[in-house]
Amino acid sequence: MTEVATERIIEPARNILGSLRLPGDKSISHRYALLGGLAHGKTRLANFSSGADCASSLACVAALGAKVARAADGTIEITGTDGHFRHSEFPLDCGNSGSTMRMLAGLLAPQRSAYTLVGDTSLSRRPMERVRKPLSHMGADIHLTDGHAPVMIRGNQLHAIDYTTPVPSAQVKSAVLFAGLQASGTTTVREAVRTRDHSELALRAFGADVQRTIDSVSIAGGRQLHSIEAAVPGDMSSAAFFLCAAALFPESNLIFDDLGLNPTRATLLDVLTALGAHIGMLNLEEKNGELVGTVQVHAPQDGMTGTTISGALAAQLIDELPVLAAIGPFTKNGIRIRDAQELRVKESDRIALVARNLRAMGAEVEEFEDGLDVPGGQRLHAAEIDSGGDHRIAMAFSVAALRARGHSVIRGAESAAISFPEFFDLLDRVAER
Ligand code: S3P
Repeated sequence: MTEVATERIIEPARNILGSLRLPGDKSISHRYALLGGLAHGKTRLANFSSGADCASSLACVAALGAKVARAADGTIEITGTDGHFRHSEFPLDCGNSGSTMRMLAGLLAPQRSAYTLVGDTSLSRRPMERVRKPLSHMGADIHLTDGHAPVMIRGNQLHAIDYTTPVPSAQVKSAVLFAGLQASGTTTVREAVRTRDHSELALRAFGADVQRTIDSVSIAGGRQLHSIEAAVPGDMSSAAFFLCAAALFPESNLIFDDLGLNPTRATLLDVLTALGAHIGMLNLEEKNGELVGTVQVHAPQDGMTGTTISGALAAQLIDELPVLAAIGPFTKNGIRIRDAQELRVKESDRIALVARNLRAMGAEVEEFEDGLDVPGGQRLHAAEIDSGGDHRIAMAFSVAALRARGHSVIRGAESAAISFPEFFDLLDRVAER
């Protein structure tokens, strides 16, 4: 998707109040789109992610022979390819989406054609060796250029492996499981830190034979997937911006209905609770293995305390770290982040951009190779924010700008549409000025 660069002005707010139902989770939408494309039959997905990233996954499965349609009520219908993706004459465009490129590599490596996966400038800089390596162990024929896209795949018969991921990555785990689904034997992935488990849950919902232990997941090869009907839970990583915004204002009150509460994704709620926020949950339900419910947040009356995020927590909160760092100056004791070097190879170098934008707002911040120290008790002024074309940076600093003096300008604000096109409209709706 090519969008014209836009700026957004963010005025300070007095409070955050309201109730929101958010578009479907990006991670789950990708998996349902890709597996629906491979399955037998018609998959129907309500509340599918509205972000450009998931549109990339849909466009790829359409190019591979799935029929993708949007019903009048917004439901996405995918008629799958019965296990056989067709040859694509053109390169498959993954846009800005690392999830699409890495997970699709796993799905395509055991198919019977040749495929090329390409992406935009940001995605073409991101590491792909991490998927090439395990897939090659399975017998895949994959070529990269200096470890990067384009990803050139010649489909092959694959065999099962037992693989321990060297860095915590749900995308790598998923690529291996998706390849394992179509390989001979039973494939096992082991991880030191448990990353988001949407692939495991989605594979089961689509009919795969998936077994889990505390630190491993195994999938039997040679199973044909069937279609599913699902409503995608609201996206916790999108809610994160509003949860953190609400935590900044002592009188705030924000409710989210139908929010995804998968325990591998909801660590932010624990962190906000540790910072002093009051979080309530009700109407908990399980849908296709995914936990969904209503969440209510109030800020602490006398301000947030502070915390350190490191080790397994850093991996589990990887997408929420930019916004947690951006609200760090408004806590009493600051936010300290370590073991988060993966942030440097996301859509941008998120450690560098968070540090640069906090400094632009007048904050003191110390940058480390694997994290940041953001001292608390600081006052920020408005600034021109450089999003670096990264959706999570644009949204994180829109939140910080709510408590800054003066109006801030978010450059590259259009990037929010990668995961959350409705972000600025919803922010206007809940921010009292
Ligand atoms: C994702 C996993 C994470 C995350 C990304 C989405 C997924 O990446 O940062 O936004 O859907 O599996 P890694 O698995 O590479 O850490």
